[in-house]
Amino acid sequence: MRVFVTGASGWIGSHTVPHLLAAGHDVVGLARSDASTRRIEELGATAVRGGLDDPSVLRAAARDADAVVHLAFKHDFTDYEGAGRTERAVVQGFLDELADSGRALLLASGLAGKPGQVITEDDPTAFTGPEAPRGGSDGLVLAAGERGVAGVALRFAASVHGAGDHGFVDILARTARERGVSGYVGDGTHRWPAVHVSDAGRAVALAVDKATTGGTAAHVVAEEGIATRDIAAAIGDALGLPVASVDPADAMDHFGWLGGFWSTDIVASSERTRERLGWVPTGPTLLEDLAAGAYDHVARG
Ligand SMILES: NC(=O)c1ccc[n+]([C@@H]2O[C@H](COP(=O)([O-])OP(=O)(O)OC[C@H]3O[C@@H](n4cnc5c(N)ncnc54)[C@H](OP(=O)(O)O)[C@@H]3O)[C@@H](O)[C@H]2O)c1
Repeated sequence: MRVFVTGASGWIGSHTVPHLLAAGHDVVGLARSDASTRRIEELGATAVRGGLDDPSVLRAAARDADAVVHLAFKHDFTDYEGAGRTERAVVQGFLDELADSGRALLLASGLAGKPGQVITEDDPTAFTGPEAPRGGSDGLVLAAGERGVAGVALRFAASVHGAGDHGFVDILARTARERGVSGYVGDGTHRWPAVHVSDAGRAVALAVDKATTGGTAAHVVAEEGIATRDIAAAIGDALGLPVASVDPADAMDHFGWLGGFWSTDIVASSERTRERLGWVPTGPTLLEDLAAGAYDHVARG
């Protein structure tokens, strides 16, 4: 199949493209700069030049593809609503282009907290409507069956970790270095799920092959939920810093925009995803990665 991947040059995308190529697919990646074009070509894929605000480029690439994997997202947390508007417009454009073709649209999504409970793939999505996080794209893709599209919401664990990660764990480690202490919020018993980036890339490629008309959620989660105080302790060990509780009232001051998310209990099962995809995560756990030095670059500055 010919697979169009947005975000192919990113953290998860660059670990997904090799699995798609190994499965025998032709991969076309969206590139918004010369650097992303080079990255995509180094991975062995073809680049098409354009950005998330170029609907004609996106729709033409989708038209020529047998499947679309949409991983790009504007990670501008100072304008999260704007990012959501773009996301919704992009996904609606893909759905219009793929309508009634049975072709697949897979998109990156996240896991919404249901504190104290385990989120499963069959729970109703918390992300519906234009005002919802990520422009409600999770809800749009779960309803893709009504448009004759094979929709998959790829709900990645809060931490897609590994050497080279610049996501949430990297930000927590940088905050720890700046503050001189690795912090968790309150008693730190609330949890975050995790997956190693190599397992995440393999899950996405498997999901492309298994997508069928309708809408399904895939939980790209290897560890259901790790206590945040254990994550903070492992960051402290890795960076040689003390570990301490931060009062919930001070979380936003201490951790910035990440404070709310770092205070949230998120536990997610991937049982159905493993069954559907035949996916068995084999990579290191988050605490193993931290102990093995995957985030030591933060300590070095
Ligand atoms: N990493 C995680 O822990 C995690 C957890 C949950 C959900 N997610 C979601 O999973 C997806 C992939 O995440 P990631 O960690 O791989 O992100 P990332 O490393 O920041 O990569 C983002 C990708 O999107 C592209 N992009 C951003 N803005 C764009 C624009 N305006 N036009 C075209 N391309 C644009 C980037 O291109 P350049 O290479 O040119 O910058 C890059 O390829 C995202 O939707 C993210 O929100 C990630």
